[in-house]
Amino acid sequence: MKHLTSIADLTQEEITKIIKLGEKLKEERYKGVVTDYLKNKSLAMIFELPSTRTRVSFEVAMTELGGHAIYLNWNDLQLGRGEPIKDTARVLSRYVHAIMLRVKNHKTIEEFVKYSKVPVINGLSDLEHPCQILADLMTIYEYKGEFRDVKLAWIGDGNNVCNSLILASALTGMEMVVSTPPSYEPNVEIVKKALNISGKIKFERDPKKAVLGADVIYTDVWISMGQESERDKRLAAFKNYQVNEELLKYASEDVIVMHCMPAHRGEEITDEVIEGKHSVLFEQAENRLHAQKAVLLTLLQD
Ligand code: CP
Ligand code: NVA
Repeated sequence: MKHLTSIADLTQEEITKIIKLGEKLKEERYKGVVTDYLKNKSLAMIFELPSTRTRVSFEVAMTELGGHAIYLNWNDLQLGRGEPIKDTARVLSRYVHAIMLRVKNHKTIEEFVKYSKVPVINGLSDLEHPCQILADLMTIYEYKGEFRDVKLAWIGDGNNVCNSLILASALTGMEMVVSTPPSYEPNVEIVKKALNISGKIKFERDPKKAVLGADVIYTDVWISMGQESERDKRLAAFKNYQVNEELLKYASEDVIVMHCMPAHRGEEITDEVIEGKHSVLFEQAENRLHAQKAVLLTLLQD
């Protein structure tokens, strides 16, 4: 049995397989092909934090694969009243075929993995967001046709999405330049792990230098879920890290702009860029559905 807690739970070959399967499932959906690969299979989806894309794309993915998804708000479960994770994980494992979780603390995912008898999928933690990154890789592949010669510039906060992208870049051979203000760098252990896989991860304080020749510019919110009390401090720290038309001038002419969404127009990215010709935000969001179907089939199919 395999879990998806980190993008690095997958090998380069497995990532390639998931992307190819995602593309096939996308094509089938466009053709109206009906499948029931996961007939009679159920997915528990536990949310300790809000979600639009993750929740809906996983639920639709299970429905379209002939299975069923159960939305579970953390506070509606006995977990919210203190039932231990080790009991919840063992009980749910006897009902469902996989558990997807969105949690405040990555340790919760690790605890589920320890006690679950079924695959556990990380639907975002404070450390990583692997499902997002699979959709992102699928999108980059669609636009650039490869990973090896792709230069991705990360602008903004070295957060959960950035951490997973760093690992994904190392695994796929992309060049990644990370541009964050001081004190907002990505997780040190993740960076070490990535550098052990590939030396193509670089750091550059100046966002204009970071995007020089970039094929992909990626940004995310300056204030992630759970960091709301740091709002003023963060707005001040990130003010020079906005992805706007001026910054795009330094990148490749055919640069694509990515954001996992939800986006905060006027903070990390401008409305003009989101609505502009370089933006692939909505393609990325759509690919969550196709990539996650591929993940579910990979983890759940007999
Ligand atoms: N990108 C992403 O995970 O979106 P949601 O928070 O809406 O699920
Ligand atoms: N970094 C963001 C991603 C949201 C999908 C957060 O954790 O809130």
